[in-house]
Formats: sequence, C-alpha cells, structure tokens
Amino acid sequence: MKKVIIRKTEEIENWRRNINSEINFIPTMGNLHNGHIKLISTAKNDNSNINLVSIFINPLQFDNKLDLDNYPKTIDDDIKISFSNGADAIFIPSNEDIYPPNNKNIKFIKAPIELSSALCGLKRIGHFDGVCTVVYRLLNLIKPTNLYLGEKDWQQLLILKNLIQRKKLNVAIKSIPTQRDFDGIPLSSRNVHLTKNERKLISFFSSKLFEAKKDFQKEKKINLNEIIKKVSAKKISIEYLEHLHPYTLQKARLDDNISLLAGAIRCGETRLIDHVFLMKRRPIIAIDGPAGSGKSTVTKLIAKKLKLLYLDTGAMYRALSWLIVKENIDYKKEKKLQNILKDISIIFKSNTSSHQDVYVNNYCVTEEIRSQKISSIVSKISSIKEIRKFLVEEQRKIGELGGLVAEGRDIGTTVFPHAELKIFLTASIDERAKRRKSDKNSKDLQEIDLRTLKELIKKRDFEDSNREISPLIKANDAIEIITDGYSINEVVDKIIDLYNDKIPKETEIK
Ligand code: PAF
Repeated sequence: MKKVIIRKTEEIENWRRNINSEINFIPTMGNLHNGHIKLISTAKNDNSNINLVSIFINPLQFDNKLDLDNYPKTIDDDIKISFSNGADAIFIPSNEDIYPPNNKNIKFIKAPIELSSALCGLKRIGHFDGVCTVVYRLLNLIKPTNLYLGEKDWQQLLILKNLIQRKKLNVAIKSIPTQRDFDGIPLSSRNVHLTKNERKLISFFSSKLFEAKKDFQKEKKINLNEIIKKVSAKKISIEYLEHLHPYTLQKARLDDNISLLAGAIRCGETRLIDHVFLMKRRPIIAIDGPAGSGKSTVTKLIAKKLKLLYLDTGAMYRALSWLIVKENIDYKKEKKLQNILKDISIIFKSNTSSHQDVYVNNYCVTEEIRSQKISSIVSKISSIKEIRKFLVEEQRKIGELGGLVAEGRDIGTTVFPHAELKIFLTASIDERAKRRKSDKNSKDLQEIDLRTLKELIKKRDFEDSNREISPLIKANDAIEIITDGYSINEVVDKIIDLYNDKIPKETEIK
C-alpha cells in the first residue's frame, strides 16, 4: 500500500470510504519519541490492519497559552519516524479542519466528573474535556477498530475508555506500558524543555515511586507522607501524590490487590506526571463452569498466551479420586480419609508449553484420571467436606503469589474470591455432549451414545450445583460467556480482552 499524508477533513473522509481493511489508530500531538514509536510498532505487530497516525496539537486541551505556544513542533521528523516504524498513513489536520468555525456538528464533550476531578483534573481545568472532544472528533472521522494509547497518561486512558463506552463507539483500546528513558523518567514530549538539573530531580521522584512499589510488595502498605517528605527535601514541588484504586480513582482500599500511586511535580516551568501500580500479588483469572463448557482448552490457551500458570483444580479432585479407587479406600470413614490426605502429594509438571502432566505420589496419572470410572465418582468425592477443605488450601498455596489462571467449579466463589477476572463459561447441554464425545482425552466417552452422554452431563450438573459445600454457581461478579457457536480462539480472545481491560499492561513488567 502506498504511504499517504492526509491533511484535509474531506480528504480523510474520502480515504476512509475507500478503505476496506480495519484501522489501527494512533493519535499524537507530534514531537514523537520512543513512547510513540512503541505505540506505532505495537499496532504494526498486532495485526495486518492499516496503521493511521494523527499529528494534531489540540488547543482545547491546553489550560495555559504559554504551554501551547511552547509545545515542541517537529513535523518533518515526525513524518519520517511514523513511516519508518509502521505507519501506513498520517493525518495532519489544521485547527480549522478539526474545529471548523460555524460548524454546528462539532460536539464539545465533557469528561465524567468522577474520573476527571481527581489527579491532573484538579489543576488542569477543562483539559480532559478538550482531550475527549478531539478524540471523539477523530474517532468519528477515522472509524478505527483499535485505538492505541500509552499507559503513561493513565487518567486520560480511563477517561477515553469511559468516552467510548458512553458513546457506544465500536472501538477497542489497546494500551502499552509507560516507556522510560535511561534515567528512569517517563518519556514525554515536554522532556525537551528540561535542564540537566530538572531531569535529575524528576529522576529522583520516579525512583522514589519505584522504591515505594518495592516496599509495598514486601510490607503491603504505603506511607505517602514519608515519600512526600523525601521528595520535598530535594526542593521538588509536589502538586499531588495519591494512592488510588486504578480504575475508579477513589481512595485505595486495604483489600485492593492492584492500586495506583500517582504524582505530579513541577520543575521550573515544566510540570511532569508519573505513576506506578502497586500489587500485593500478580493477577489471578478464575474460570468456572460445568463439564464440557470448554474450560480446559480455553484455560490452557489463556495461560500460554498471557504467560500465566495453569491450575486445573478439576484434575486435583480427579487425582484424589484415582488414589481412593486404586487403594480401595472407604472414603466415608473419616479416619481412612485423613490418612490419605496426610500423605498425598499432587503435583503438576509441564512437559511442553501447552501440556502438563498430573502426578499423584510421583506416579503419572494424566490419562487414567480421565477414565469414565473416575468421571462417575469424582463429583461424589469432591462433595466431601474434608476433601474440599484440603484441596482448596492446596490451591490457595499454589496461588499465593498470583500470576495464574485457574479452572474449576468454585474458583471465583471459594478458592480465589478476590480474583481480578472471573469468568463463568458455559454452553448448552447439546453442545457440551457433542464436545465431550469428540474429546480425545476422554476415550471412554467416545463409546457412549449421545443421548446417554447428555443424561450423564445433566446428572453431573445436578450433583455439582446442588452439593452442600461450594456448589457450582456463578459468582456475583463473574462474567458469563455462553460458548455455543463460538470458536475456541474467539472465546480465548474475548477473555484476553476482558483481562486487558482489568489489568494495566504495566503490571506485567517486573
Ligand atoms: O496523549 C496525547 O498525546 C493527546 O492527549 C491525544 C490523545 C493525542 C489527544 O490530543
């Protein structure tokens, strides 16, 4: 495709009408640095869509005329940088193109108070209204599938996410972590104004945020006054330093696993923002659902794609059932049960990136636990109070540091009630019976006729949903996905989108 530069509104509308492919849109105000380059190249590598970069210094988002006049302008370099890093087209409109005088169709948008009155909104009156207005205008002209934004401007990202939801725009936000310079300060077009000494001060401020992040991992608490004291001692003027919930921007609560420590400082004429995400443990995804809903396949793929640990809790119940059958243990007798729970070791070992084996007391049971014999008793065995208590504790131990995706029937309700993302995966009985029949891991089931299989599934559903302890129910905050008619990859992509919506990309950086 020929690379193009588009300057006029009519030209962009024409260009858009003639494009059949989907568009990745990267809005900028120019003076492109490595942060912008990362956005453009991420969009390029994500898919085969057309990449459009816009360069427009939006006067509406400047609360200070001097700041607007001084905003660095490097258009020739910006064009070269955009094209050489994956842009297919660049939109460089004038003020009149974006805000034509006397055009009643231009909508001036207000940012939501609950998100825009905190942090930067306190001092930069009208700033986020200006951002919303220009982005809304650009999205309507360009109609992209994906909008690429940096997490450096986290509050802006939240406000634009809200704008897209509010206006029901059909565009997905893709974010990239804050990009930093050699001295740790976040890349920003305004950095060109900094003197050597100012850079040092900002670098000190950023290093204190990172120190707080490290301490938080150890101590699970934060002392804002202490940080303010250390920073102020260097004669750095702090505009704000807040510890907030990362999505609502309300004060962080003790039980928030992920929170935001964000600050703004002034160095000379320049105002800079920085933040870190504080985490007690890495994120957890809980996937619950009935037999045959596609849980295992989907969970394994998600673990691989997001580089998370895969915890198959159903396999743990099956493994224990296998031992009970093999040793012919009368599990109704508490003493006998206590004896095997005392000594049993159930561990998972990955032999390839997408397959893991289950071992009971060092014996590999991966295949045997999938037999119909085990399937027919696992529900009964997993309804025993002592067994559930024992295995839930084992599962929580595995999940102590987070960084995992667990599948089962009580993950979101009992095992990890504070999981960041809870999915309830289900499908009609017909669909689940068909899937079970073609499941290569369940050899015995392939010999059973479809009708009998449906009856078996119904019976299992009934037992699981009606047992006294931890019955299979959807957690209040779980998102239900009915998988009938969807391919595995579609379900996986949907869950990954939901995950990205709840977890800042930056938290993946150690
Ligand atoms: O982040 C920016 O550079 C600007 O706020 C944006 C999103 C391009 C709107 O002018």
